[in-house]
Amino acid sequence: MAKLKIVKIGDDTLRKVSRPVDAITPRILTLLDDMIETMHDADGCGLAAPQVGVLRRIVVVEVEPGQTIELINPKIVAYAGEQQAEEGCLSIPGRWGITKRPKHVTVRATNRKGEVFEVSGSDLLARALCHEIDHLDGKMFIDCMIEELK
Ligand code: NI
Repeated sequence: MAKLKIVKIGDDTLRKVSRPVDAITPRILTLLDDMIETMHDADGCGLAAPQVGVLRRIVVVEVEPGQTIELINPKIVAYAGEQQAEEGCLSIPGRWGITKRPKHVTVRATNRKGEVFEVSGSDLLARALCHEIDHLDGKMFIDCMIEELK
């Protein structure tokens, strides 16, 4: 495994739309492993492939220590409610803000074995899923921030 460099705001990569993964190759599996190591090293609760310079639809999320969720081609298939809470981003160091997000989401994705699965989350997990999936479409939390925290 290798720790990857995290792309920071200002880099065009973060504003591009990522391509779907059509085959789970050894390279994709290595990328997943490296993204997890990079997320752990940076003490983040999520990371999207564009944040390490790779424009593919891959996300890792870990809001409960040790419970890593790997999502390939993730898509939000249901959402409900609303929450307003604090958010930050490893690509936007030093900035924090309140965003408005769904309180509950269900995401459909493919795992590393190529199996389609669904994960549902509320509160922090729902925020993390929305935040990371947004990265795959070139969106960042500052786009939906309703108040910046100083
Ligand atoms: Ni982020």
